[in-house]
Amino acid sequence: MPATIVVGTQWGDEGKGKLTDLLARDMRLVVRYQGGHNAGHTIVVGGESFALQLIPSGVLYRHTIPVIGNGVVVDPAVLVAECDTLAARGVDTSRLVVSGNAHLVMPYHYELDRATERSLGKNRLGTTKRGIGPAYADKAARIGLRVQDLLDEKIFRQKLDVVLREKNAVLAKVFNRLALDGEEIARRYLDELAPRIAPMIGDTVGLVHEALEAGEQIMLEGAQATFLDLDHGTYPYVTSSNPTAGGACVGTGIGPRDVDRVIGIAKAYVTRVGAGPFPTEVDGELADVLVERGHEYGTNTGRRRRPGWLDCVMLRHAVRLNSLSEIALTKLDVLSALPTVKLCVAYEADGERMTRLPYHQSVLHKVTPVYEELEGWQEDLSQATSVRDLPKAARSYVEAIADQCGVPVGYVGVGPGREQYVRFAA
Ligand code: IMP
Repeated sequence: MPATIVVGTQWGDEGKGKLTDLLARDMRLVVRYQGGHNAGHTIVVGGESFALQLIPSGVLYRHTIPVIGNGVVVDPAVLVAECDTLAARGVDTSRLVVSGNAHLVMPYHYELDRATERSLGKNRLGTTKRGIGPAYADKAARIGLRVQDLLDEKIFRQKLDVVLREKNAVLAKVFNRLALDGEEIARRYLDELAPRIAPMIGDTVGLVHEALEAGEQIMLEGAQATFLDLDHGTYPYVTSSNPTAGGACVGTGIGPRDVDRVIGIAKAYVTRVGAGPFPTEVDGELADVLVERGHEYGTNTGRRRRPGWLDCVMLRHAVRLNSLSEIALTKLDVLSALPTVKLCVAYEADGERMTRLPYHQSVLHKVTPVYEELEGWQEDLSQATSVRDLPKAARSYVEAIADQCGVPVGYVGVGPGREQYVRFAA
């Protein structure tokens, strides 16, 4: 059975956690393929809210094996804390398998993330300050420590010694910061964390291929989203990994022919945290309404997200970049009670109308959105369980999105709960 990829189509926080959790019902494996604890997935089950950072959504089902793939960067302390929090609430995390090839987030990565942001001043990216960028930079520079290094004290210490000499020199000489103590880091990682992580380490590539060969369903779960992609996003205001569907193959160790379904999660409006271009951004009262009704504050960082209207130019580009087979539209309920709703269908700049994303980012910074204004709906959607329960105007909005993007909308989210969704025309 080929794999299903779930990918965010905007700038993150589209509600992927809820959708992956819903789809995980039918999955044997749920594999995270990139990012780290910069992600925050909220799942609401029976009125109880679970906020996950590293552990894939499928953990809440007994029949699912949650896997952290090689493309993820792992802070072992965060992983252990997350397991303990879930265990305290009765969730069994013993099935979790972590790739030995995943890279470790180390204390100096946090220091460098913070110091770099500070030194960038008004040009800062607005990172989550979790050390994610520096950890991926070390991976590319081939000086990173990997999860499997926790199993071998000699190798761990050797690598740490080399890398810390460089990091401490940079911290002291470039950023005027205190040096970190290598012995303290080694003791924490090797004595405290390694014994907890060791039982989780496994052959994740083998696991994924055995599941594919056995005809089992597997889901590859992306964190962040298409326009935060290191290659295809609004660089430099991006994360340091590849959330787009291609990243799912690299980050789990399968080829593209093993994937047959790619679900793009799009919020019924758009939000972004941190800096960077955002053509359909709104402000004033409408922004407050969207932020408050949609609870648009970071799951982990608490930062207020910037809101805007749904942008079909970007969504069409996301369809191309990820070869999306369908869209899952989330948080449609948040748009209830607005007199009208707007969809951005094109951009204009220098008298030119564009229906495709400009390849030169300076153009994206100055475009004006061209909106189609649709009738709003006043009804509360939170109880809807089928398309028939949606008001006509809400249905028209969803259909307009499918028309604009050329792929069907398969699911519509109408509230935070696991069961609050409507199966649309997939
Ligand atoms: P980093 O991933 O912490 O390096 O942050 C880089 C950019 O990605 C910043 O604009 C962050 O706000 C954004 N970002 C990272 N993770 C998430 C996420 O899970 N949701 C939304 N934005 C994110």
